[in-house]
Amino acid sequence: MATIGLIGAGHIGSQIARLAVAHAYDVVISNSRAPETLATLVAELGPRARAATAAKAGDIVVVSVPLKNYRAVPVGPLAGKIVIDTNNYCPQRDGHIPELDNESTTTAELLQAHLPTSKVVMAFNHIYAAELTTDGQPAGARNRRALAIAGDDPEAKATVTRLLDQFGFDTVDAGPLKEGWRIQRDTPGYGPRRTAAELRRDLAAAKRYADQ
Ligand SMILES: NC(=O)c1ccc[n+]([C@@H]2O[C@H](COP(=O)([O-])OP(=O)(O)OC[C@H]3O[C@@H](n4cnc5c(N)ncnc54)[C@H](OP(=O)(O)O)[C@@H]3O)[C@@H](O)[C@H]2O)c1
Repeated sequence: MATIGLIGAGHIGSQIARLAVAHAYDVVISNSRAPETLATLVAELGPRARAATAAKAGDIVVVSVPLKNYRAVPVGPLAGKIVIDTNNYCPQRDGHIPELDNESTTTAELLQAHLPTSKVVMAFNHIYAAELTTDGQPAGARNRRALAIAGDDPEAKATVTRLLDQFGFDTVDAGPLKEGWRIQRDTPGYGPRRTAAELRRDLAAAKRYADQ
């Protein structure tokens, strides 16, 4: 069973950690401070969890930090690994990033460019953190909620699709990382509960910021 590393253990990272331990994964979590600052979360998560260098310990690593800090994600320890990118661009929080403002790239492409030897898959970016532990349903459930992914590596996407299925969600493939904008903030699929068919419709209907 893979160990899941979480770089960032705030709203979304802690929820993914809860889902992971509930599905019998070991998790290693880290934040921007000393491991002791995660003691309460580690105690809640139980024996499958520890606070250490998630980039090194994780077989699959989730990056869930404010986007403005993405350059602090270590490159070497993540070489060859699947890296799940939950991040969104919020200029009020992140400051302005010109290549996102002019839509010449996407958030997950930025992380992929920073981690050229990793396989970045964008996922979990458009669901409110709290709903991760309430909205999952077994495979085949009627009207099961779907989450979008984007990525350039088909095998990495297949792995993340299996993980999402274990966690209780259908997956809709939005395409390569450059199509990740279709599920960015202010697109129709960003936030609300959607089945796979509804999410496919929303991805197709998404407009670039310049066209909204
Ligand atoms: N909240 C949601 O419902 C939600 C849903 C989907 C996607 N997202 C996106 O996911 C990302 C994280 O959101 P969030 O709401 O979980 O944020 P958050 O609650 O503010 O948590 C951020 C986490 O990142 C850690 N961190 C910050 N800088 C770091 C660094 N340089 N190295 C390692 N860890 C670092 C923080 O640790 P410290 O406390 O030590 O600084 C904290 O654990 C954002 O891009 C957000 O847009 C959020």
